[in-house]
Amino acid sequence: MARLVVDPAFVVGALDRRLFGSFVEHMGRCVYTGIYEPGHPTADADGFRQDVLALVRELGVTAIRYPGGNFVSNYDWEDGVGPKDARPRRLDLAWRAIEPNQFGTDEFVAWSRKAGVQPIWAVNLGTRGIREAVDLLEYCNLPAGTAFGDRRVANGSPEPHDIRIWCLGNEMDGPWQIGHKTAEEYARLAEETANAMRRVDPGLELVACGSSNAAMPTFGDWERVVLERTYDLVDHISLHAYYEPHDGDQASFLAAAEEMDRMISAVIATADHVKALMRSDKELTLSFDEWNVWYQQHFPGELGLPIREVGPLIEDTYTVDDAVVVGSLLITLLRHADRVKIACLAQLVNVIGPIRTEPGGRAWRQTIFYPFALTAQYAGPTVLRTAIAGGPEIDTSAFGRIPALWSTATYDENTGETAIFVVNRSETDKIDLEIPVPGPRLNQHSIRHLALYDEDRSAVNTADDPDRVQPRAVDDTEVVDGVCRATLPPASWHVIQLS
Ligand code: AHR
Repeated sequence: MARLVVDPAFVVGALDRRLFGSFVEHMGRCVYTGIYEPGHPTADADGFRQDVLALVRELGVTAIRYPGGNFVSNYDWEDGVGPKDARPRRLDLAWRAIEPNQFGTDEFVAWSRKAGVQPIWAVNLGTRGIREAVDLLEYCNLPAGTAFGDRRVANGSPEPHDIRIWCLGNEMDGPWQIGHKTAEEYARLAEETANAMRRVDPGLELVACGSSNAAMPTFGDWERVVLERTYDLVDHISLHAYYEPHDGDQASFLAAAEEMDRMISAVIATADHVKALMRSDKELTLSFDEWNVWYQQHFPGELGLPIREVGPLIEDTYTVDDAVVVGSLLITLLRHADRVKIACLAQLVNVIGPIRTEPGGRAWRQTIFYPFALTAQYAGPTVLRTAIAGGPEIDTSAFGRIPALWSTATYDENTGETAIFVVNRSETDKIDLEIPVPGPRLNQHSIRHLALYDEDRSAVNTADDPDRVQPRAVDDTEVVDGVCRATLPPASWHVIQLS
């Protein structure tokens, strides 16, 4: 028996809804035959798939980073604006596909308005620099009256796009990145680009590139060097991380949230170290703007790809275990809600996405769709600390001995609703959980308990069997004498709402 204690008095911080962001890159079929497919039976006049838009809305995504990713580091944004029949076909050096440029800046803004999401823009600091970043910002955010503002108007958008969040490049620490830089080189470029962009629009939120993952040899030092140059100019530092099982070690994979948690703590420590060095009052926040499960062991690497038309790339099909891990990663993000203000599930459609499509055909929800959608749906405005007493521990080769339960909670003081998100990471043992009902409503009896687990942990959803894996309503969870009692099967994700 484990006891989970939560109290509205013990607050982590306000939940920034941009934690439920995602990512659309010009990669594989994320854009073409993903969100955009003129001629699809559900396409609207703009060529946007309505079946996908409906799933995006259901997913509860709030913000989307665009247009890359590695793609952005060799992208000429000018190729993707203006009359479509005049746009060039270009070789994308990141993924070695021929980019048709039929979808670009204006299309993404129009799509994001229809999807009801806030766009997050990345600029090319690989093969381009300050001038092009400022030109793009002028194109997006200035009214008519400058060359680039006028150009947007001529292209059919009289009002500024008003993009508020800008990423200063992508994964510039990675040797695979086109235009890869040392920390010092990137720090100078980010500093000068941020400075110039703030002359156009001082109110922007700017994201400096952090490390591509915590295993990079420069992790920690990269963040320090970059922030020593940019601390006063940027608002957030980025984190990226993808998780997968190694050598069949599913126990460590189910505990991947430990790795994310340690990475976030390390970046906070580094940012706060720079804050101390700068004698600054400003607290930098984090943008975890790429995260997900990704079976990179199946990816041949960029140079293993032939030059070709845009087609399928890293279309991982997600299992029940993958969904439990995604749910636990979201719990980690919520646990750091005081410092993590933006997070993007990478990516949105087809390319390691919660949504899959067939060209010209069906669209469906992958297993990972559900923990994301339900967390976005049930999370309230304030994140609370949870403490677990008496729960079992598990042994993992990657993280040592750790608690089997991983949890967070949110509270809505207007409705009195508490939502508890919890994962049982044990592969073998069910856990009986007690939750003393928090707050003044000791005798509340309205409970909603949804869970994701399956006897077959490798079960997946496919076009022919799209509903094989779905959340289940758990009806036998009850409140007796002010204590909620639930049973959590092995390898399972849960949301329990008390109201
Ligand atoms: O999301 C796929 C790729 O992963 C992105 O292009 C890159 O930023 C990261 O390495």
